Amino acid sequence: MSKEIRKSSNVVWTESHVAESQRRDHLAQKPLTLWFTGLSGAGKTTLGFQLEKALLETGKLAFVLDGDNVRHGLNRDLGFSSIDRSENIRRVAEVAKLMNQAGLIVIVSLISPFAEDRSMARHIIGSEYFREVYISTPLEVCEIRDPKGLYSRARAGEITGFTGVSSPYEAPSCPDVSLDTSTMSVESCISKLIRVIG
Ligand SMILES: Nc1ncnc2c1ncn2[C@@H]1O[C@H](COP(=O)(O)OP(=O)(O)O)[C@@H](O)[C@H]1O
Ligand SMILES: [Mg+2]
Repeated sequence: MSKEIRKSSNVVWTESHVAESQRRDHLAQKPLTLWFTGLSGAGKTTLGFQLEKALLETGKLAFVLDGDNVRHGLNRDLGFSSIDRSENIRRVAEVAKLMNQAGLIVIVSLISPFAEDRSMARHIIGSEYFREVYISTPLEVCEIRDPKGLYSRARAGEITGFTGVSSPYEAPSCPDVSLDTSTMSVESCISKLIRVIG
């Protein structure tokens, strides 16, 4: 049974007295969400936190919403079924949107294997703020890296529905940026991302 997302009819939106332009001026940056998608082991977390640090060092305020980290708290009640993956993405997208409204540059590092869920994220966050970053490292390389030992467990049948092994990964058809970490160093990936942010 699919989860229904309900909103009470008794809630009323109140507009902030602070304009988005005031926050932009205050932080001297344009808010943006860089949505990293790719297989487990592709390099999303590594690049996300390196980019956050690089941005802070140039005076920009950024924050990483990492898949594994949000599953420790906000999304600890969710598993890896397609319904739960979708709800995981919806919640992260809503948090990214709030952080963008607060003026931050948000880096989301989530496998987000389904195109439909990524398109929901774009819709929630708004195209103006959303950039899709495909970490396109091939499966063979991710599997050799296996930084968390998950591929070998998935191959042994100990993990079901593992993306790339027993669950599909739908590659983005038109990403804003593509980074293959099997051929690009961390430094060159970060330089390319910083150019996208501007
Ligand atoms: N150019 C690179 N960019 C990012 N990670 C790399 C690169 N080269 C090697 N790696 C390694 O690949 C692994 C990627 O793991 P991780 O960042 O946790 O991936 P993900 O979050 O996509 O599952 C790390 O062990 C990292 O050190
Ligand atoms: Mg990760």
